[in-house]
Amino acid sequence: MKILLTGGTGYIGSHTAIELIKEGHEVEILDNLFNSKITVLDRIQEISGVKPKFYEVDMLDKEALDKVFAEGNYDIVFHFAGLKAVGESVEKPIRYYENNLGSTINMLDCMKKYSVNKLIFSSSATVYGEQPVAELTEDMQTGVGITNPYGRTKYMIEEIIKDVVISNPNFEATILRYFNPVGAHPSGLIGEDPNDIPNNLMPIIMKVSTGELPCLSIYGNDYDTPDGTGIRDYIHIVDLAKGHVASMQKMKPGVNIYNLGTGKGTSVLEMVEAFEKASGKKLNTKIAPRRAGDLAEVYANPTKAEKELGWKTELTITDAMKDTINYLNHLAK
Ligand code: NAD
Ligand code: UD1
Repeated sequence: MKILLTGGTGYIGSHTAIELIKEGHEVEILDNLFNSKITVLDRIQEISGVKPKFYEVDMLDKEALDKVFAEGNYDIVFHFAGLKAVGESVEKPIRYYENNLGSTINMLDCMKKYSVNKLIFSSSATVYGEQPVAELTEDMQTGVGITNPYGRTKYMIEEIIKDVVISNPNFEATILRYFNPVGAHPSGLIGEDPNDIPNNLMPIIMKVSTGELPCLSIYGNDYDTPDGTGIRDYIHIVDLAKGHVASMQKMKPGVNIYNLGTGKGTSVLEMVEAFEKASGKKLNTKIAPRRAGDLAEVYANPTKAEKELGWKTELTITDAMKDTINYLNHLAK
């Protein structure tokens, strides 16, 4: 297959590129490099032996995007591009709606013009909003109780994609709802390297361990969970990348939605302990008040992906911590 990855130099896109190249697919990448670095292309080549063709394009620039599609003759698009900093989205909602919705609409228009009828979209567990239970299944209602503009862009894009499919019976869309991606490629050559101050747990743990941040604030130890800290479903980035390959192999007409998660919850304290064990170093932490909008416990029910895609996670939190530390060691060189 000839595949376009939007946002393909980013964290999830770059790991997915490697798994797709390994399977013999022809991968091209488009990114505006707002939150990723051009050197990722060399890393992809080092790992996979292939340097994907790259377009430095902002998807809001429709003319430039059109040129990529005109040249590309793609079979399928994986749409990773987007802004994803939850806190920033609260401060700059218009920027988030403009970038995430605008880029998606421009892309869908180009796909229509050039008859590219297969799409895999990076959605998030955030679309489930607040639910009465911790274990989330794909058929639950979405869009209610989402606490930030970033999350709402994901929900809105899902709805736009559903309308596009209604308008075009030849269109096949797979929506992947990621839980919490963590870890790095086992080579240590690529991983998560955010350009700004992160607000997700794992990048903060990484920056505390390197001394770039002084301390990890644990947001609440009085939740109704065994150790009082929040529980999430952390999925190794390589498992997540492989989930994309499986999804592409099993594309079918209409809109198909899958949770990509492990099905197991891990608490903040368990994550800290796992990192300390793998690194042999103590992390500086303190208990802080709960973060607004946080839920006590959230994890995926991944049964649908296992049944329909033949995919399930294989790697553990220990693997993720080991690979993260290996990646940090490479960054420090
Ligand atoms: P990332 O920031 O590493 O990658 C996204 C890439 O998109 C970046 O390289 C950025 O430069 C690019 N981009 C943004 N706007 C663009 C535009 N207008 N034109 C061209 N390129 C643009 O993020 P990631 O963690 O790899 O996430 C990929 C996708 O998965 C995002 O859509 C994100 O919202 C979604 N997602 C991520 C997580 C997570 O925790 N990492 C969880 C759920 C969903
Ligand atoms: C957050 C976003 C969600 C987004 C997801 C992936 C919020 C409310 N939700 O989810 O919309 O889809 O990231 O990008 O921001 N924690 C700490 N200290 C920290 C950071 C996090 O204790 O400095 C805790 C949190 O309270 C939570 C867990 O770690 O219990 C995971 O947090 P995080 O990585 O931000 O992911 P989510 O809360 O799942």
